[in-house]
Amino acid sequence: MRSVVTGGAGFIGSHLVEYLLAAGDDVVVLDDLSTGTLDNLQAVDRHPRLSFLHGSVLDRALVVDTVAGCDRVFHLAAAVGVRVIIEEPLQSLRVNLHGTENVLDAALGAGARVLLASTSEIYGKNTADRLSEDADRILGSPLVSRWTYAAAKGIDEAFAHAYWRERDLQVAIVRLFNTVGPRQTGRYGMVVPTLVGQALRGEPLTVFGDGTQTRCFSYVADIVPAITALAEHPAALGRAVNLGGATEISIGALARRTVEVLNSPSEIVLVPYGQAYGAGFEDMRRRVPDNTLAGELVGFSPRTTVDDIIRRVAAATTTVVTSGAPPGARTAIVPG
Ligand SMILES: NC(=O)c1ccc[n+]([C@@H]2O[C@H](COP(=O)([O-])OP(=O)(O)OC[C@H]3O[C@@H](n4cnc5c(N)ncnc54)[C@H](O)[C@@H]3O)[C@@H](O)[C@H]2O)c1
Repeated sequence: MRSVVTGGAGFIGSHLVEYLLAAGDDVVVLDDLSTGTLDNLQAVDRHPRLSFLHGSVLDRALVVDTVAGCDRVFHLAAAVGVRVIIEEPLQSLRVNLHGTENVLDAALGAGARVLLASTSEIYGKNTADRLSEDADRILGSPLVSRWTYAAAKGIDEAFAHAYWRERDLQVAIVRLFNTVGPRQTGRYGMVVPTLVGQALRGEPLTVFGDGTQTRCFSYVADIVPAITALAEHPAALGRAVNLGGATEISIGALARRTVEVLNSPSEIVLVPYGQAYGAGFEDMRRRVPDNTLAGELVGFSPRTTVDDIIRRVAAATTTVVTSGAPPGARTAIVPG
């Protein structure tokens, strides 16, 4: 099997690449290294079945060339992270809309299947007890940058579905809830690596808002096998499938667990959203997945606990601790 992974030098993409190589695939990574890094592929960078192409999914000719002769495409390349979306809304929209259409169209031309990585963000402010795949979307204004990621990913899903319905493209969609694990960086506003890094450095843990907003974190190693299985499952074609964590936890409680599990001397401070992301920032209060469909289709059952996630992220972070500093800046080296 020959697989393309767009965004394969990113956090989730690099774990997926390792998994596919171990399963025997030939893997081609297409990544522009905007938020990803070749360091993420260090464990496999000399693998004889891995090739890396440095380029953008916005380069249509390159995407067509890359996908030609491949059996399937895992489309993970995207502008990701609250900070990126807010600070670079135009580029984010272009990548997340035009880039995805390029990939879908190229896959159709090549006769390749597609797995599209979408997001729980598309549910927006819906605080339902468990969000099933047909839950309504409650989004803020399209003029608020915060919502453009959800809006673009929603259109990506609609594109994928239309390519499936009208052109017979074999495409499945996964809606990832907050996925965490080693190699995720805190630079772009991701909460777990940020809190873990702060705790390891003995700095105050910064919790945005009042800390009562909740999320369900899932561990990347629980998610990747399910993504791969769904890519192959005939009943997933033309559908979107939730993949999220099992335990709901507030961000305040997550910060407290982080301090406790890592035995950190750090205090926890609340930072108003306006101070963190500028005036008018909106967040969702709650996001809880209904994973029933993924359980039925591929036996998905997330196992890794929040405490274990914190430990594993900390273990990976102790080599190089990054901060919330701008891309490229490594502010503290902590002995591993
Ligand atoms: N991590 C999560 O919690 C989460 C949740 C929901 C959805 N997702 C989705 O999963 C996918 C992977 O996210 P991640 O968390 O690994 O983020 P990431 O930033 O680590 O990965 C994105 C990768 O895409 C690459 N990329 C960005 N723009 C590109 C372009 N124009 N051309 C080629 N490559 C480009 C980046 O360099 C990076 O390697 C994304 O589609 C994201 O929307 C992630």
